[in-house]
Amino acid sequence: MDKKKIIKILEKIVPPSQIRNINMFGTEIIIDLNIDNPSLHAKKKLEKSIISSFGKNYKIIVNFNVVERKTVPNDNKKELVGIDNVIAISSGKGGVGKSTITSNLAISLSKMGFKVGILDSDIYGPSIPTMFDVESFRPTSVKIDNRSMMEPIESYGVKILSIGFFTEVNQAIIWRGPMASKALNQMIFDTNWGELDFLLVDLPPGTGDIHLSIVQSIPLNGAIVVSTPQKVALSDAKRGISMFNQKNIDVPVLGLIENMAYFVPEDMPEKKYFIFGKDGVKNLADDKSVPFLGFVPLFKSIREASDFGHPASLQNDSLIAKSFEEIAKNVVSSVVERNDHLPPTKIVKITTMAGCSAINKKENGAEK
Ligand SMILES: Nc1ncnc2c1ncn2[C@@H]1O[C@H](COP(=O)(O)OP(=O)(O)OP(=O)(O)O)[C@@H](O)[C@H]1O
Ligand SMILES: [Mg+2]
Repeated sequence: MDKKKIIKILEKIVPPSQIRNINMFGTEIIIDLNIDNPSLHAKKKLEKSIISSFGKNYKIIVNFNVVERKTVPNDNKKELVGIDNVIAISSGKGGVGKSTITSNLAISLSKMGFKVGILDSDIYGPSIPTMFDVESFRPTSVKIDNRSMMEPIESYGVKILSIGFFTEVNQAIIWRGPMASKALNQMIFDTNWGELDFLLVDLPPGTGDIHLSIVQSIPLNGAIVVSTPQKVALSDAKRGISMFNQKNIDVPVLGLIENMAYFVPEDMPEKKYFIFGKDGVKNLADDKSVPFLGFVPLFKSIREASDFGHPASLQNDSLIAKSFEEIAKNVVSSVVERNDHLPPTKIVKITTMAGCSAINKKENGAEK
């Protein structure tokens, strides 16, 4: 074991920028880390995963140095108490894996010690409750400062609210834009989320008026666009990027994720089949000068785990968990970079009139 090796192990758990110092005395390794989450829970969790990743032959001592979180204060902070970063997971095309990515990314961020929530805003087919095995759950209400708040459902350490919790199973509800906006607004502002580092918002597929309506109800810090690498999906992804880039929406794109990048047969894990083409999303990211956040292979077990309600990245040390860990680290870097360089995103005000959207940027906070 040498410093290089130690850093390599640590980098799987924390961003390299957090590693301050490493000292080794025989089998004792002393690690000094910068952290921005001062909670005992976060420290314990991080310490535990560091100790377990070095195995039994080493005595690991972790010293934490709490540094101020590198985020720009959000204008909507007054209302969004406790939630630091709200990130939309979107795609132009349906079925490319937004919900799968949202679930697994949430688990990986939470394994890194972050507090994570998911808001499933997919009015067409909310699938997060299935992926977290909480389909039959219904949120309860709690009184906080004399105000009734919804209590999110917690599964695998992730706090969840889904538009699906408010409809009966198998009952199709046709959500109109304003209805969806109102429901989502409540799900963000009237919910006891507690302290969250990340709230991931799983968006419905597409880039129509209803999406603009949803963007209106949520103060987003940034958006992640998911796509598969084939041409038809990429053109929809481009439309997704343009939607966020519109001057009057102006939500920074934190990066692109290439899902189903290649197929790996379970019985021949060394093989890679590039079914939908190779590097399509990565090239699009280069083209648009937005960060590329990583590849997720097409694995039968990813689909099985989602259907079973136990996201695949929960399985430590698997190839799948590693892909998502890599992506989670890149997401954190991109968010830090974004918060260092850009002002907070304001809520966008959209009025739909006779098929055309007049979009105005609201100066301060949400219009309630
Ligand atoms: N990398 C992957 N490997 C295997 N199966 C995957 C992968 N990504 C997604 N899937 C499967 O593909 C299907 C669609 O994925 P998912 O529901 O996440 O897409 P989506 O973009 O959220 O869809 P929608 O647009 O309907 O919301 C699911 O059955 C999921 O399990
Ligand atoms: Mg989905």
